[in-house]
Amino acid sequence: MNSTKKSVSSQQNESLLRTARKATKHAYAPYSQFRVGAALLTSKGKVFTGCNVENASYGLSNCAERTAIFAAIAQSGPGLNIRAIAMVNDQGLPCSPCGACRQVIYEFGPDATVFFQSSKGWKENHITELLPEGFRLK
Ligand code: THU
Repeated sequence: MNSTKKSVSSQQNESLLRTARKATKHAYAPYSQFRVGAALLTSKGKVFTGCNVENASYGLSNCAERTAIFAAIAQSGPGLNIRAIAMVNDQGLPCSPCGACRQVIYEFGPDATVFFQSSKGWKENHITELLPEGFRLK
């Protein structure tokens, strides 16, 4: 990433992380006890949040990132363009988006910046660094 031309200012980044942290409080995570919050910034400057929502049939659980994206579509329509998405968990553990979420982020944010906690501290990656050769139908 070119540090002279950041797509998201450090204030926007900090604000997204604060908002994502608040969203962890809404998580439904009785099975893993791992509460995740996500906040995304659209190209129009709107912010949407999500949290993980688990299920007794574990595989049906939904990650915070996808909840935020689906909430954005539900509330604002299909023209979503993600500029940036940040995720936070309540345990301060490294947590990069899972493969499924990377593909869903890519669908609505082929140029998105992703903020997450890595094993080496906070990280900022372009979605295509996290998901090379993402799938597109059009
Ligand atoms: N989880 C997320 O919500 N986002 C991630 O980026 C990684 C994992 C959730 C899924 C599950 O509810 C819990 O964390 C433990 O895997």
